[in-house]
Amino acid sequence: MRLFVSKANKSLSTSLFDRRNQPTTGESRPELNEIRDNTAKQESADGSGPFWLMQFEPQRPLPVLVEEINALYHSFDAKNYVDEHPEIYGFLPKLWREMIALLPTNNAWRVLDFGCGAGFAAEQILAALGDHIEKIVCYDPSPEMLEQCKLRIKQTPLTTFSCEFDEVARHEPFNLLLTNSVLHHLPDFCGTVKSLIPLLTRDARWIAGHEPSARFYRNHECLRTLEGYRKYRRWKRFVDPRSYRSRLRRCFVSDPLDLVARASVERGIFRKQPTALVMDRLVDFNVPHSVQEVASGRGLDFKQMRDDFDEDFELQFVRTYFFLGPYSLHRFPSRWAARAIDMEKKFPQDGANFCTVWKRKLTG
Ligand SMILES: C[S@@+](CC[C@H](N)C(=O)[O-])C[C@H]1O[C@@H](n2cnc3c(N)ncnc32)[C@H](O)[C@@H]1O
Repeated sequence: MRLFVSKANKSLSTSLFDRRNQPTTGESRPELNEIRDNTAKQESADGSGPFWLMQFEPQRPLPVLVEEINALYHSFDAKNYVDEHPEIYGFLPKLWREMIALLPTNNAWRVLDFGCGAGFAAEQILAALGDHIEKIVCYDPSPEMLEQCKLRIKQTPLTTFSCEFDEVARHEPFNLLLTNSVLHHLPDFCGTVKSLIPLLTRDARWIAGHEPSARFYRNHECLRTLEGYRKYRRWKRFVDPRSYRSRLRRCFVSDPLDLVARASVERGIFRKQPTALVMDRLVDFNVPHSVQEVASGRGLDFKQMRDDFDEDFELQFVRTYFFLGPYSLHRFPSRWAARAIDMEKKFPQDGANFCTVWKRKLTG
């Protein structure tokens, strides 16, 4: 697997993707230590939310908070989404072609792209299965994201775009469910997927692309490699003029997470303005950044998912990738590229992200 991106993509990857993954060391961010010290999903004594949120006085229960903060974030981020996600638009199409090739022959695919965003998964399926699609429904709760999807996906009698789940349900049954980079935004991804099952045919397939894997942070060798690369980066940043330029640029460009934090108070979601980091942890509710966060329950694990969905789905395919965690799209020197390839050979199940294909079990 090639882990590099082009020079153009690299400059994108050093924007939001890179920046939002930077505070993982936490040295200069006291509130991060609180997030680490208190389990991400641990409720406070009165059941109103995790400890690291309470100081900002959230006015909603945690699941609603996660959904509302996600909605705010994606409303601010929608227009830049495609440019800011080279890990999706640059890296994933090849892997999606591989997964789509595993689907059985069918001339009447009825597809639900759940959390479609700007339509990445729908685009992949339309490109690969074209004439064999009978219906494709793109659903996203964010109207701003859905607008981007409409700009990218040709509107035909086969396509439906909706922000309303009730409308989506009217188009059942679906025999192909697509989720790409969505599950980690959900307060209860398992419950959400299970709630979709009644909309699926008994032989439906589910392609679940690009989720963060807790397994990476449980693997000591992967972590040691990541730590080594971080040390190298700290040293290199010191001597690289680009890092000074990007710091300067950050002084002038608003961070969407700051905008979300401000808006969350204006809309009465919080009484006190939370930090951008806290917003990040709510938006990416299941993205782990450290051993401590994984220990607290953040992150997905395809083996755990296989157990959780045992009654309903059979796991048919899994691929893990990104063996330098959040930095995997960097153009790193050959020493680090070789190290990442070594890790992949040694621990093929423990990359920082994974894609899976599932087949519905014929039960009931
Ligand atoms: C990282 S984007 C991925 C978008 C697209 N699937 C892709 O691969 O580019 C996550 C998407 O999940 C959507 N989302 C967030 N919370 C959701 C929820 N509770 N239910 C469905 N979609 C949600 C967001 O609006 C956003 O469009």
